[in-house]
Amino acid sequence: MEFQELIESRRSVRKYADREVTREQIEEIIRAAQEAPSWKNQQTSRYYCVLSKEKREQIRTTCFPSFNEQRSENAALIVTTFVKGNVGFNDEGKPINELGDGWGCYDLGLQNAILLLKAKELGLSTLVMGIRDADKLRNALDIPETEEIVAVLAVGYADESPKRPNRRELADISKFF
Ligand SMILES: Cc1cc2nc3c(=O)[nH]c(=O)nc-3n(C[C@H](O)[C@H](O)[C@H](O)COP(=O)(O)O)c2cc1C
Repeated sequence: MEFQELIESRRSVRKYADREVTREQIEEIIRAAQEAPSWKNQQTSRYYCVLSKEKREQIRTTCFPSFNEQRSENAALIVTTFVKGNVGFNDEGKPINELGDGWGCYDLGLQNAILLLKAKELGLSTLVMGIRDADKLRNALDIPETEEIVAVLAVGYADESPKRPNRRELADISKFF
């Protein structure tokens, strides 16, 4: 698929078919995500991949609000985190500028954007979920306190074809000097 077509056809999918995503597919999309740039090549993004039906059910029913629980049914789940206090910090552990750990979040977002597009290329669909219970996810997956939990990504086979939500005018979001 042409890159422009790929980025324009990716959609947030909120209804998935009852069809398993394999570990090999998830590994392939994470490998693609790893090609993203990162601060000093620190690569602090982490992925907790929930593929078994039993564990997926547990996560969906205990860590999500009901709307995201329904929207991610049948999908594999990837809990994405980054190691805190590293990217954006100097050797003495002081933030290099005002963004601090915002840079770790930035690196994770860069990786995740590639992850979503690679999934699309492989015929899979995705949903980024920012509304989730981080404490419950930490407990359920034994995620260390040294990591900040960010988005959960649902990955699966689409059972709907959502329309493309409008984008703002370029002139509204950019200035040229
Ligand atoms: C950081 C982030 C958090 C999001 N959280 C949710 C969520 O909790 N539930 C949901 O249904 N969609 C969520 N979305 C999906 C957005 O609503 C969606 O990307 C947006 O409406 C644009 O649609 P598109 O992805 O099809 O282009 C989230 C997206 C992002 C980037």
